[in-house]
Amino acid sequence: MKIFEEIESEVQSYARSFPRVFHRAKGEFLYDEDGNEYIDFLAGAGTLNYGHNNPVFKEKLLEYIHSDGITHGLDLHTRAKGEFLEAFNEIILKPRKLEYMMQFTGPTGTNAVEAALKLARNVTGRENVISFTNGFHGVSLGSLATTGNSHHRGAAGVSLSGSSRMPFDGYLGEDVDTTAYLDKVLSDSSSGVDLPAAVIAETVQGEGGINAASFDWLRNLEAVCRKHDVLLIVDDIQAGCGRSGTFFSFEEAGISPDIVTLSKSLGGYGLPFAVVLIRPDLDQWKPGEHNGTFRGNNFAFVTATAALNEYWTNDEFAKNIRKKGDYIAKRLDQFVEKYGEGNFNTCGRGMFRGINCVNGDIAGKITHSAFGKGLIIETSGADDQVVKILCPLVISEENLKRGMDILEQAIAEVCDKEDFIPETVDYFEDDYQTDVGVKQAS
Ligand SMILES: Cc1ncc(COP(=O)(O)O)c(C=O)c1O
Repeated sequence: MKIFEEIESEVQSYARSFPRVFHRAKGEFLYDEDGNEYIDFLAGAGTLNYGHNNPVFKEKLLEYIHSDGITHGLDLHTRAKGEFLEAFNEIILKPRKLEYMMQFTGPTGTNAVEAALKLARNVTGRENVISFTNGFHGVSLGSLATTGNSHHRGAAGVSLSGSSRMPFDGYLGEDVDTTAYLDKVLSDSSSGVDLPAAVIAETVQGEGGINAASFDWLRNLEAVCRKHDVLLIVDDIQAGCGRSGTFFSFEEAGISPDIVTLSKSLGGYGLPFAVVLIRPDLDQWKPGEHNGTFRGNNFAFVTATAALNEYWTNDEFAKNIRKKGDYIAKRLDQFVEKYGEGNFNTCGRGMFRGINCVNGDIAGKITHSAFGKGLIIETSGADDQVVKILCPLVISEENLKRGMDILEQAIAEVCDKEDFIPETVDYFEDDYQTDVGVKQAS
């Protein structure tokens, strides 16, 4: 560990929560140098939806490397890129009746967001962009202006301009439709909010605390955008690629964003990769305007294509995500009931869920305790108050149960109820038991 302390920057974050040297990973497991095994409920912050070193993708990647396939090609046309474009169009866009142009940006999520914001501003000729409380869109300056978190904003060193904040769904209480407020300020020439180029939103806010917008809210948001001729950007970098139960997180709401950003699990293998999907008439870029040396990662084209072919040509994978998501939701409801003493609540959608412990100190103790028991799991939210479940979507039911059991033990320990251990029953059966706590034999 010494070398990391000696010369790796203080900016490290996850390494502080999980101070081990990891060197091997497979599926839903990570292994440290001492041979300890950890169930991974963090999955590279949502990058490894298909698990670590997915064997199907690995084979395709090795084949490509062995054949001296192009590793770096600037934005030249490559066969790997062509095959990815073809697969994305046939497997994802056409069946959903979506028509988008695809822009390959620099390989980080934040660079895709930068491109989306620039394009929206240039096309509309307006500067302001509406973003939401607790939204997270990255930490480069343009994206950061639309990110809510003060810890990240504070590091900017310059004023963050060009964005107005609006309350996200639920921010003012369950009964308040905050899109009505947005409509009001956009309708009022004296509201002080300039007519925006775009609204940027996550459908489920990941870093902001797993806040899932209701489908009604998303539909209302789209309607407000249409009414005021404002573009709708959905940032699907974390909630997309199946995490919320469908490929795009906005599918079930039935909305059609003008621009969509994707990254994280799109490459499939944990390789850096980001795209912007653009409504065709908005694709008004001039050549090279949003430039970058690493636009389009050919290795990621190969693994992303493999992921689409392996998991998205029919509805089986999505159904399986929803089944596991329901299981996670049920377990979390139980935890709230058993240990929350009226304070905890659950949040999220699909396999993008969390338990809101209201207090960041408690949530931190839970994740710390879980790590000691072999589970890697992180917190999110303004005060890190939400324990965030972000396991690979391909996790086996057995290991999902194991991970949830460890989480329950950690919660019980922190909430001073160590005498509870999870009962080993098949929680996936229809007659799902609601009381899994049993007294530990003393
Ligand atoms: C919704 C969303 N947008 C953008 C980003 C930024 O992506 P990156 O960290 O790859 O720059 C993230 C990262 O967590 C995210 O969750």
